[in-house]
Amino acid sequence: MTNINQNMQELPEPSSLLQQQTQRFLAWLQQRIDQAGGKITFAEYMQHALYHPEFGYYMHAKPKFGQQGDFVTAPEISALFSQCLARQVAQVLENTAVTDIVEFGAGTGVMAYEILQTLIKLKVKPKNYYILEISPELQKLQQQRLSGLDTDINVIWLNSLDDLSLNAIILANEILDAFPVELFKVDETALLQAYVMFEDNKLETLFSEKLSDDFSKEVEALRKHYELTAPYLSEVNLQSRAWLKSIKSCLQQGVIFLIDYGFPGHEYYFPGRNMGTLMCHYQHLAHENPLLFPGLQDITAHVDFTAIAEQADELGLEIAGFSNQANFLINCGITESMQELPENEYFDVVQKVKTLLMPGEMGEIIKVLALISNLDLELLGFKNNDQRHRL
Ligand SMILES: C[S@@+](CC[C@H](N)C(=O)[O-])C[C@H]1O[C@@H](n2cnc3c(N)ncnc32)[C@H](O)[C@@H]1O
Repeated sequence: MTNINQNMQELPEPSSLLQQQTQRFLAWLQQRIDQAGGKITFAEYMQHALYHPEFGYYMHAKPKFGQQGDFVTAPEISALFSQCLARQVAQVLENTAVTDIVEFGAGTGVMAYEILQTLIKLKVKPKNYYILEISPELQKLQQQRLSGLDTDINVIWLNSLDDLSLNAIILANEILDAFPVELFKVDETALLQAYVMFEDNKLETLFSEKLSDDFSKEVEALRKHYELTAPYLSEVNLQSRAWLKSIKSCLQQGVIFLIDYGFPGHEYYFPGRNMGTLMCHYQHLAHENPLLFPGLQDITAHVDFTAIAEQADELGLEIAGFSNQANFLINCGITESMQELPENEYFDVVQKVKTLLMPGEMGEIIKVLALISNLDLELLGFKNNDQRHRL
């Protein structure tokens, strides 16, 4: 996600209606924290702030994407992003026994719409296009958007992958960066985990030597491996392993494309990145306070792609490609698509494509990782500049 407005300093106040909503959420959080004995882990706080069924950022109707919302994602910027991804999808559908597509977290549905439109033009039809979306409000938006599509391809919304046996292409654009993360700090004497609590009726973060079990094992290993020295603050995604496992367990044959903000591990846990990557987005302003306006702002952290590749390897998935977004889109024909644009659209689209491709915008910071299960195929998106060696 990126912001349209990056220069304003002050965050605008939410409307009084939204402030009332936050007050009710704070009352709920107070109860939950009391019940948990006075503090919850940061990941639990982030889980509630983003996905509480009533108050979570992604769960209520307030707009999130585009001018009226808080950020924009690549498929929202230009249809050319999804058209390129569709060419990669078509290559897999045409050359293997894979028949279905599964998209995780489809946002406004724009990527699904453009991919299906392009596949119809290319005359490459999947059997089913499944969408697994956690937010009922976003599901509604997706259903509206896709109702305009003239096709006999089945578009099906799922609540989970349980009991499915899939020959599928799995697409996840900016999903892993929306997973709750644990925050940690390495100080002179100890490794500390972040908790969230109330102090004088205000949410506060507390760094404590008391480590939760899953956290302790993973972060001790990270600290040793990357030789992290004080003062160092960062985060770790402890949910990605179970998520990947749930996909692998129902994927007979297929490819998983993970597209997200992030770096290989040695760049993520680089000594100079000692303030982590946690970021909040509110009305196109980026800032670093996740306790502000709970439920009204997005909270996100970049992805450690080395960790994801290692988890995939443990699960028996093959790492089939890793590159930045610019290389991936160029390999999938974005420059050729631009040449086909009508003259009156060209200038506008060039500006948008620059945002997708330039190294200082989304071109380098967003990476694409492809994982394969029981397939033998050189993927179009990595034919030049495959950077698996960076992982
Ligand atoms: C940052 S948005 C990205 C939306 C869209 N993919 C795009 O690029 O515009 C994150 C999306 O993931 C969804 N989401 C988060 N966790 C999820 C999960 N575990 N399963 C399915 N969807 C999830 C959110 O509701 C939201 O639609």
